[in-house]
Amino acid sequence: MFTTKSIIISLLLFLFMAKVDATNNSVKPDPIDVKVDSLLKLMTLQEKIGQLNQYTSQWEMTGPAPAAEDMQNQLEQIKTGMVGSMLNVTGAEATREAQKLAVENSRLGIPLVFGYDVIHGYRTLFPIPLAEAASWEPALAKKSASIAAKEASAAGIHWTFAPMVDISRDARWGRVMEGAGEDPYLGSLFAAARVKGFQGDDLSSTSTVAACAKHFAAYGFIEAGRDYNTVDISDNTLHNTVLPPFKAAADAGAASFMNAFNVIGGIPATMNTYLLRDILKGEWGYDGMVVSDWNSVGEIVNHGVAPNKKEAAKLAIIGGCDMDMEGRCYVDHLEELVAEGTIDEALINDAAGRVLKMKFELGLFDDPYQYSNVEREKEVILSAENLAVARDAARKSIVLLKNEGEVLPLAKNGLSIAVMGELAEDKDSPIGSWRASAIPNSAVSLIEGIKANKEQKNDIQFTQGVRLIDGEKSFVKELNFNITDRSGFEEAKVLAQKSDVVVMALGENCFQTGEGRSQTDIRLKGLQMEFFNEIYAVNPNIVVVLMNGRPVVLGEIAEKAKAILEVWHLGLESGNAIADVLFGDFAPSGKLPVSFPVVTGQAPIYYNHLSTGRPDNGEGNVFWSHYTDAPKVPLYPFGYGLTYTNFEYSDISLDKDQISFDELVKVTVQVKNTGKREGTEVVQLYIHDLFASVARPVKELKAFKKVTIPVGESKEVTFSLTPQDLAFYNIDKKWTAEPGDFKVFVGTNSRDVKESQFKLVD
Ligand code: NOJ
Repeated sequence: MFTTKSIIISLLLFLFMAKVDATNNSVKPDPIDVKVDSLLKLMTLQEKIGQLNQYTSQWEMTGPAPAAEDMQNQLEQIKTGMVGSMLNVTGAEATREAQKLAVENSRLGIPLVFGYDVIHGYRTLFPIPLAEAASWEPALAKKSASIAAKEASAAGIHWTFAPMVDISRDARWGRVMEGAGEDPYLGSLFAAARVKGFQGDDLSSTSTVAACAKHFAAYGFIEAGRDYNTVDISDNTLHNTVLPPFKAAADAGAASFMNAFNVIGGIPATMNTYLLRDILKGEWGYDGMVVSDWNSVGEIVNHGVAPNKKEAAKLAIIGGCDMDMEGRCYVDHLEELVAEGTIDEALINDAAGRVLKMKFELGLFDDPYQYSNVEREKEVILSAENLAVARDAARKSIVLLKNEGEVLPLAKNGLSIAVMGELAEDKDSPIGSWRASAIPNSAVSLIEGIKANKEQKNDIQFTQGVRLIDGEKSFVKELNFNITDRSGFEEAKVLAQKSDVVVMALGENCFQTGEGRSQTDIRLKGLQMEFFNEIYAVNPNIVVVLMNGRPVVLGEIAEKAKAILEVWHLGLESGNAIADVLFGDFAPSGKLPVSFPVVTGQAPIYYNHLSTGRPDNGEGNVFWSHYTDAPKVPLYPFGYGLTYTNFEYSDISLDKDQISFDELVKVTVQVKNTGKREGTEVVQLYIHDLFASVARPVKELKAFKKVTIPVGESKEVTFSLTPQDLAFYNIDKKWTAEPGDFKVFVGTNSRDVKESQFKLVD
C-alpha cells in the first residue's frame, strides 16, 4: 500500500523532526507544523504551486466544463505534482485510482485531497440546511453532518464544501436554502454544530471530513437577490451580521474557508485583504486554508479589477486566497510572478503550507488511501440507522404555519382524503438541489409516505391535478413551468368534492432553488394558485403541504387554506416524516429561521432590522417608514411556528434590574401547556439595546430553549444573560457591550413576546 516515495518522505520528515527536537528543547512546535515546514523544504517552487491548484473531474459541475484537451493535460499535471486537490471525484474506487496517479507518479508522492459538495448528506439526504435550521436543534445538525461525513469519507471524500454559513435576508436568492437563515446567533450555532459534525474530534479519523465555511464573505447580501451580483454593505453589517457565523465556524475548528464570488465594496472577496488577511488570518489568527470559489480567481478579471489572469493570480495570492478552484490562474502564472520578483515566494510557502497542514491533519501522509474503502462504503451508505436519523431530522424540520379549527392532525381512520399536486408524487424534489451523490428519485414521496403510515386506515386517493414543470428538470438548466395545461383540474375537482379533506402539495421543484436560481417573484409558480382556488371552490377543507427551498409568498392561500405545513425539501425520508406529522405521530415543533414576506417587494425582510428614524409617527399621515400598497411586516415572522397544543407565557421575571460588567441577569418565564396534547416549544429570548453608539436592531435573538411540556403543566424556563451577550461591533470598531438600558423579550416567536427591561452599568 505504501510507495517507496512515501516511505522516503516519512523518513526525511522523521529525521528533520528528530533534529528539531534535539536542537530546540524549550519551545516544542506543533508536530504538524514541523512536518509541513520540513516537507516544504523538500519541494520545488513548482511543486508548491501545484498544491494550490484544484481541478474538477468532468461531472457535477457548477461552472463551465473543462475542454477535452484540458482534461488530458490535467491527468499529466496530477502525475507531475502540479495538482493539489480534485473536486467531484467520488466513490471509493474512483478516488483510489485518482490518488494513485498522484502518489505513484509525482516526485514526492504527495497525496491529493478530494473535495465535494456534501451539503446536507452524501447519499442519505437530510433536510436542506435551511429546513434543518427550522428544528432550532443544532445537535441535530451536528448529527446529520457526522453521518454525511461518515458516508462521504467511506467513498473517498476528505473535504466537504460545507457548511454554507451565509446570512440571507432576501428570499429572491436561490441559495437561501443552503444556509441557516437570517439570524447571526442561530446561524452561528448551526455553523459550529455542522463543523463539529463533519470534523468530529479527530480529522485523521476515516469517518470524518474537513469542513469549509463558505462563502467568505457576504454572499447572502448580493444586490436584489441576483446570484453572483454585487455586494455593498457597511462595516457595521459585515461585523455584526455577516461575520459572526464565520467566526463561530473558525472557533469550532473549521479546517478551511471558501471565498465568495461577489465583490464587497468594489473588491472581489477572493482577493480581499481586509477580509482574508486582516480579519480571518490576522485578527482571528486562523491557521486553516482558504480555497477560492469556482474560478473566482479568474473572475477577478470579469469584475474589472485585473486586466488578465496573471494579475488576478497575483491579487488573489496577495489577498490571502490559498487554493485556486478550477481557475488555472495559480498554476499558469504564479511561477512567473515569483521569478520576475512581483510576488514573494514566502506567500507561496504560506499558502502551500496551509494546504499541506490540512493533508497532514487528515492523515493522508499516513495512508493516502485510508478513506477510499469499498467495504465501508457498502456498509455505511444508506444504512438503516442513517435513514432513521434522516426521518427524525425531517420531522423536526417541519413548521406548522396555520391550523384553523385544529384540522390537523388528521384522524387515522374514517376520512376520505384526496391528495394532489405534482409535488405530492415527486420523489426527487425532496432530495433538494445540492444533492451530492443522492440517487435521483429516491426520496419517499408524500403520497408514498401517507400510504406507508401503518396505523392510518383512511380512504386515500391521489390525482396529480396540476403539473408544475414542463420538460427537463435538472441541476444545470433553467426550468419551464406549466402555464397552460389544465387537463388534470377536472378530475381533481371531482375527487375533492367527494372527499372530506384535500391534502395539496404546493411549492417549488428542488431545482427552483440553489445556485443560479434567483427569482424576481417568489409567488407560487405555474398554475398552482389557480388550481388551489379551483379546488377551494368545491372543497375548502384544504391542508396545504408546502415544499420549498426559500420563503414563498402565499397570497390567498394564507387566508383560505385550513392548515399550512411548511415541509421544505426534507431529504430521503420526506414522505414518511410528513405523514408522521399529518396523522399526529409526531407533533410539529419547527420554527421559521427566516421571515416569510407578504409580497416579494418586501425583500429583503428580516426581524432584526434597525428602527429607522420614523418607525411609526402614529399621526395617520404617510410620513413614516412603510409601504402604501402592502404591510411592512412579514406574513410569518422569524421564529414562528405552531404545534398541536397551545402555550401560555407568564410575564418575565428578572433576578435583578441592573447588572455590572462582571454580573449576569437571570430571565425567567413560566410556560404552560394549555392545550390537549403534550407539546414541544422553542422558548426564545431577544434583546434590544435601546441607545448605543450605533443603531442596534429592534430585536436580536440571544438564547432559546426547546422544552417539552405535558398537558396542563407549566415549565419554568430560565436564561442567563451576560454582558458578553449584549456586545456588538461598535462605533470604535470594538466588540463590546455599552452601558445603558436593554429591553428583554421572551416569547414563542420574534413577534409575540413578553417584555421587560434592565440596565447595564459600568
Ligand atoms: C460553486 C459554489 O458557489 C460553491 O458553493 C461550491 O462549493 C463550488 N461551486 C464547488 O462546487
